[in-house]
Amino acid sequence: MNFHLTDEQKLIQKTIREFAEEVVAKDVLERDRTKLFPREIFKQLSELGLMGLPFPEEYGGSGADTISFAIVVEELSKVCASTGITYSAHISLGGAPLHLFGTKEQKEKYLTQICSGESLGAFGLTEPGAGSDAGGTKTTAIAKDGNFVINGNKCFITNASYAKFLAITAITNRKESNKEISAIIVPTDTDGFQITEYEEKMGLHASNTTELSFTNVIVPEENLLGKRGEGFKQFLVTLDGGRIGIGAMAVGIAQAAFEKSLQYAKEREQFGKAIARNQAIQFKLADMAMKIELARTMVYKAAWLKDQGRPFTKEASICKLFASEMCMEITSQAVQIHGGNGYMREYHVERYMRDAKLLEIGEGTSEIQRLVIARQIGC
Ligand code: CAA
Repeated sequence: MNFHLTDEQKLIQKTIREFAEEVVAKDVLERDRTKLFPREIFKQLSELGLMGLPFPEEYGGSGADTISFAIVVEELSKVCASTGITYSAHISLGGAPLHLFGTKEQKEKYLTQICSGESLGAFGLTEPGAGSDAGGTKTTAIAKDGNFVINGNKCFITNASYAKFLAITAITNRKESNKEISAIIVPTDTDGFQITEYEEKMGLHASNTTELSFTNVIVPEENLLGKRGEGFKQFLVTLDGGRIGIGAMAVGIAQAAFEKSLQYAKEREQFGKAIARNQAIQFKLADMAMKIELARTMVYKAAWLKDQGRPFTKEASICKLFASEMCMEITSQAVQIHGGNGYMREYHVERYMRDAKLLEIGEGTSEIQRLVIARQIGC
């Protein structure tokens, strides 16, 4: 067992940390206020060669491991969680299913655009009536004359406004009460495909969250991703990887909240001494440090298992569940340590708390993670 990062992982960490502090941190409060999508940041991440980080070099990726991916997500999220979720979804939800299930031709056509950053990655699973019950998909894709004709709706889809294509799930056949769900790649400029952005969200203001509507959208049958009828399972496999990204985001936000709280507690004086000298505050900070360390270790473990080609469904859910609940608790405590100042935007911690809440919901609620873990341990 080895808890050291490799030289390559350390280099990636140094590069992304410097980039986040110099480039991403600039205007972060302004982006939260104006909801401006960080386009320029993603252009620069493309130039740094990070948009295809874990994908094969053959398709323009860097061939790095999942721990490196988690490090990049953590460092971006520490400074700006909107940038972190955009990157995490781009790689783990947008690029991953193409990498895992695409044909060589599909990878050459689509994965290359993900790796170059020409297209952001997105993934269309959730529907108004199919959230936690992701298999409750109603969107249909009827095979006709060598094409699929798609009708339906998707919601809460990250990045779609900046994607040139995305894989979605749709029912391609019904046998009595059994639905055959397949994954299909849909170019976003296809006639009948509409993307609408949500204007008002609790947090992650600078990230792109959309609704998709398909009205007689026609794509060729060759756009089928993986095997017909395997789409639901493919997306569950994809979500296992995505949950590592959410865990890493949680660690990044919590680390930022902890560092701000520690600094504030040392500087803020009440009753003639720094509040950090009070045991009540020290214990909060000690708990924060402990829980972040545990969450990061679990994120790395899930990432390591994935890289070893071993089963990691349970560990991905554990890291996502533990890290997101830890992040919610720590960001709330960070606001508490900052007192009245914590409630004010300029101190950042209230943003961390708003951003953290999504992590207990997106890519499977905490309740669904408990359900996955329960099934995995044989309940
Ligand atoms: N890997 C591979 N296969 C899996 C799997 C996994 N992790 N989990 C289940 N399967 C297989 C099962 O073995 C089963 O196979 P068989 O039919 O051969 O037996 C099949 O998939 C169906 O599994 P279940 O019977 O367990 O399916 P279920 O309907 O009971 O639901 C669930 C399982 C875990 C609740 C699943 O629906 C789930 O994860 N729900 C949460 C969805 C979610 O996370 N949504 C967020 C999406 S994020 C998004 O859309 C927006 C965005 O941009 C961020």
